[in-house]
Amino acid sequence: MLSSKSSLAVALILVVTLTDVLPLVSSSRGLVGVPTDGALEDSLLMMERFHGWMAKHGKSYAGVEEKLRRFDIFRRNVEFIEAANRDGRLSYTLGVNQFADLTHEEFLATHTSRRVVPSEEMVITTRAGVVVEGANCKPAPNVVPGSINWVNQSKVTPVKNQGKVCGACWAFSAVATIESAYAIAKRGEPPVLSEQELIDCDTFDRGCTSGEMSNAYFWVLRNGGIANSSTYPYKETDGKCERGKLQERAATIRDYKFVKHNCEEQLMAAVAVRPVAVGFDSNDECFKFYQAGLYDGMCVKHGEYFGPCSSNDRIHSLAIVGYVGKGGDRVKYWIAKNSWGEKWGKKGYVWLKKDVDEPEGLCGLAIQPVYPIV
Ligand SMILES: *[C@@H]1O[C@H](CO)[C@@H](O)[C@H](O)[C@H]1NC(C)=O
Ligand SMILES: *[C@@H]1O[C@H](CO)[C@@H](O)[C@H](O)[C@H]1NC(C)=O
Repeated sequence: MLSSKSSLAVALILVVTLTDVLPLVSSSRGLVGVPTDGALEDSLLMMERFHGWMAKHGKSYAGVEEKLRRFDIFRRNVEFIEAANRDGRLSYTLGVNQFADLTHEEFLATHTSRRVVPSEEMVITTRAGVVVEGANCKPAPNVVPGSINWVNQSKVTPVKNQGKVCGACWAFSAVATIESAYAIAKRGEPPVLSEQELIDCDTFDRGCTSGEMSNAYFWVLRNGGIANSSTYPYKETDGKCERGKLQERAATIRDYKFVKHNCEEQLMAAVAVRPVAVGFDSNDECFKFYQAGLYDGMCVKHGEYFGPCSSNDRIHSLAIVGYVGKGGDRVKYWIAKNSWGEKWGKKGYVWLKKDVDEPEGLCGLAIQPVYPIV
């Protein structure tokens, strides 16, 4: 008689290999010769779930060993997500999304990036306001609306997906804000612009490795514009600059400007006029599974409720495309466009707690917001 642990492994390998050739096993419990106990049943149910998830997200793995390894990570992530949702202390819900077969380390390595220091040349040669530290954070003027959503004003392009292996969130955030600023200024539809051109040609940034939105604006300014994504399509990897396309300008900007440092009031005033690019600390394990609700930077793991996210490790970038609530309103949040596809979050968007106690804003979003001027 096999020990229950090794019979479990045998059963799993059976299911893994069988379902590679057969349609999804409709009732794993009916498998001949497989002993049944609680743990095994749970594993088989989880394996069915894994196969359903694989089909939904178009996943496949090289070999049974890798598949079992991914299954194990998937199972742990599902347990983490469900426990966090059951806990009841979170102000938002988590979902088993496309990242469920990745460890947190793998996720961070492939979906975030370091910031780069704005280049000296950029600071010297542009009229962009350099961040002024220490000055007061003035309240936004009263005329600033109580809420605005550039998405439902048709000034935001569909949510994009930076893909599995490129940390160019900075390019997506910069491009999203240029697209919207252009549409608002021209009173038209937003053009779908090229992140790849920035990844390949913007020498102030480092493509899929790291970048900064202000550098990207500076590059667009110097190039006299940016191509659209049909001219210069996304490749999900660093490439050689296609210089012949540099003149194919689908939109341009006149300048760019930093929002007052650590001042959500001034960020609101800026977002009321056009979307704004922000850096964001997305190290939180819960954030990558965000599904709906108001994200407040808190997480639950192994029964421990912790957070909020810090502000000094802004490894991700987002485009703030609207907000709800100001002043003494009970409900207040930013509406942020992410670049992890439409299956992440609220159809690709996230609601972030607005007007937090820390001047840096939630997860550092108010530290260095920046926007293009068309
Ligand atoms: C647009 O968004 C704002 C802010 O979220 C909301 O108040 C408004 O109802 C929305 N309008 C439509 C048509 O969805
Ligand atoms: C993209 O830009 C090119 C010119 O650079 C233009 O011919 C083409 O129509 C644009 N495509 C879209 C979808 O806007």
